Amino acid sequence: MSEVVRLQLICLSVVGSGILILLFIKSVFPRVIGFVAIVLGLFMLTALAVPQMASLPPVEEKFDIATVKTPTDLAAIGQKIFFSKGQCALCHTIGPSESARCPDLKGIGAKLSREFLYESMTQPQAYVYMDYRHEGLPKMYPAEMPAINKNPIGLSRNEILSVIAFLQQMSGEPISINPSELDVPGSPAAPVKAAQSGPVAVAQAH
Ligand code: HEC
Repeated sequence: MSEVVRLQLICLSVVGSGILILLFIKSVFPRVIGFVAIVLGLFMLTALAVPQMASLPPVEEKFDIATVKTPTDLAAIGQKIFFSKGQCALCHTIGPSESARCPDLKGIGAKLSREFLYESMTQPQAYVYMDYRHEGLPKMYPAEMPAINKNPIGLSRNEILSVIAFLQQMSGEPISINPSELDVPGSPAAPVKAAQSGPVAVAQAH
C-alpha cells in the first residue's frame, strides 16, 4: 500500500467517525468535534488528491560501456547527459536565444577542437569566453561555467567524452572520439590522453 493510500484511508476514517458522531450523538460538544473532524478530513483528502510532485534526484544515466560500439552510440549517451546529469541545458542553448544567460553552443563542436572542448568543461576558468552579442566591449556572462568533472555535477571522463561526441555530432562534425578510448571499469587507469593534458594556451578559431 502506498503512503498516499494509507493517508487517504486515515482521512476517510476521520470523516467517517465525524459522521457517526453527528448521526448518533445528541450532546453539543461531541457534535462540534465530529463536525470539525469531517471538515479537517475532507480538507486533507483534497490536499492528498493534488498530484504529488516528487523531487527525486535526477536519474543517473547508466553508462554501460558494453553498449557503446560506435561513435554514434557515444554521442547518443552524450546527448542524454547534456540534458540530464550534465545540466548543460540549464545554462546553454543549442541555437540562438535572446534570453540565454550563457553561450549558445550551436556549432560549438565545429568551432572548438576536442581538446579545447574538454578544457572548457574541466577547467572553465582557463579561457573564459565572453558575451559578444551586443555593441561595444564584450561582457562577462552573468553565470559562471562550473567545472563539470567536479561536484556537484561530477561527470566522469567517459561521460565528458560522450558529451564532446554529442557536441561534435550536433555541429555536423565527424566524431573524433573512438569508443576504444573509454575507460573500462576495473582495468588500470588508462594512460593520460592528450585531451587531459595541461591547459590549451591558444584559443583556436575564435
Ligand atoms: C551554470 C551555468 C553553466 C552550466 C551548467 C554549463 N555551462 Fe558551459 N558555460 C557557461 C558560461 C557562463 C560560459 C562562458 C564563460 C566561460 O567560458 O567560462 C560557458 C562556456 C562553455 C563552453 C565554451 C564556449 C565557447 O564558445 O568558448 C563550452 C564548450 C561549454 N560551456 C560547454 C558546457 C557543457 C558541455 C556543459 C554540460 C556538461 C556546460 N557547459 C554546463 C555556463 C554553464
